[in-house]
Amino acid sequence: MSRTLFRTKNVEQSIRDTEEPEHALKKSLSALDLTVFGVGVIIGTGIFVYTGAVARTTSGPAIALSFVAAGVACALAALCYAEFASTVPVAGSAYTFSYASIGEFPAWIIGWDLVLEFALGTAVVAVGWSGYFRSFLDNNLGWQVPEVLGGRDSAHGFGFDLFAALLVLALTAVLVIGMKLSARVTSVVVAIKVTVVLIVIIAGAFIVNTDNYDPFVPPSEPKPAGSSLKAPLIQLIFGWAPSDFGVMGIFTGASIVFFAFIGFDVVATAAEETRNPQRDMPRGILGSLFICTLLYVAVSIVVTGMQNYRKLSTEAPLSEAFKETGHPFFSGVISFGATIGLITVCMILLLGQTRVFFAMSRDGLLPTFFSHTHPRFRTPYRPTILLGGIIAVVAGFTSLKTLGELVNIGTLFAFIVVAISVIILRRKRPDLPRAFRTPWVPVVPILSVCASLWLMLNLPAETWIRFGIWMAIGFLVYFLYGRSHSRLARREETTPEEAMRPGPGAP
Ligand code: ALA
Repeated sequence: MSRTLFRTKNVEQSIRDTEEPEHALKKSLSALDLTVFGVGVIIGTGIFVYTGAVARTTSGPAIALSFVAAGVACALAALCYAEFASTVPVAGSAYTFSYASIGEFPAWIIGWDLVLEFALGTAVVAVGWSGYFRSFLDNNLGWQVPEVLGGRDSAHGFGFDLFAALLVLALTAVLVIGMKLSARVTSVVVAIKVTVVLIVIIAGAFIVNTDNYDPFVPPSEPKPAGSSLKAPLIQLIFGWAPSDFGVMGIFTGASIVFFAFIGFDVVATAAEETRNPQRDMPRGILGSLFICTLLYVAVSIVVTGMQNYRKLSTEAPLSEAFKETGHPFFSGVISFGATIGLITVCMILLLGQTRVFFAMSRDGLLPTFFSHTHPRFRTPYRPTILLGGIIAVVAGFTSLKTLGELVNIGTLFAFIVVAISVIILRRKRPDLPRAFRTPWVPVVPILSVCASLWLMLNLPAETWIRFGIWMAIGFLVYFLYGRSHSRLARREETTPEEAMRPGPGAP
């Protein structure tokens, strides 16, 4: 039993699988494409929306420190990701890495977990986008969208976020047509987004009122009674009274704004489509993460200086801060830029999501029906259409905070497995060429595990429960389907000669 659960996919085999014509993706991305891709997905709802909500309810102006804490955890994880991505350059991110190092069952858990991360992440960003889009329509065209079409967060009672759902459907169509189109559109949009962020930092710096930094770390406040499941797990474990703000508020905030960093791991999912993954993946991942961390800290310091943290908007805080301080022109520019900018984030998360699903089905852990690429576009169109449709519905009904926390716990869990896998793969396959080597192994991977676990523990207890339910469903799917249909299992059952032939689905 444990032999099958921990059977590993040989690294060379993983690379060979991707070369079978019907399962192959186009190799067209360079290091610059990857960095643009990275910045394109990293800067999004996290900085544009969560900054306001977290400063207002959890961290105060100390949200800048929350960004630093989350950034440190991500940098540690990025160092591990970069080694893996440059060693195992095939689609699927942490899923593929763990399949090659610790085994099929842990890989399944991760893949299942990444599906959750990317699917819900896409939905969260679509809803964040819709908030800025509605604010843009209101500010610039004077059109107020009815609340019932503003989704769960703005409507009281029933609400369906129509724009969020339409965005997901439109992007699904773009992804089916092909990667090249997406990469081209991405570069233009990333330029607009970074410009908007720089406008916030530079123009906002002149409007800062330093009184707003007092207190920088607001004193801790007890949470309302009866909300213990909403308290961070760490506070419940140690029997502390559930609270917001204070020093612990910095870490609770970090576990939420962590969402703002999600995306550098998505860069790793494009390894198979990269021309020279050995050299370009580490550059793409670390480069985009570094740029984003600097921008986040600067934006959060400026915005909490412009407006008192208690008054920040929770839907469109960056543009509203300018409006409230008497600068409607900048407010309009920012809501326009955010509306454009969040589109790429949504698109790349959706892309990462379909690639993980594709990789899992190519391995037989999900039906191989999903692993055939389109004869003309060479894209995994089947999972793209299926998942795009489901995510559009979820986006329509999404509550931002709840789903964002669920995305974070899933991603942090994936980081932990990747860090452990770096250590295991170094022991098991010291011979593999590694274009990028994580420094100070095992110290950095161990620190990465500790940092990710710490952020996970700062998420609410109810998020842990939801995550547990999702993983339990995943276990059932694996034991009822994946374990027996796994391509690796079939290879083990065949003779060596048979094993040399192409697998199921290949021509
Ligand atoms: N990091 C991305 C965002 O903040 C997912 O929207």
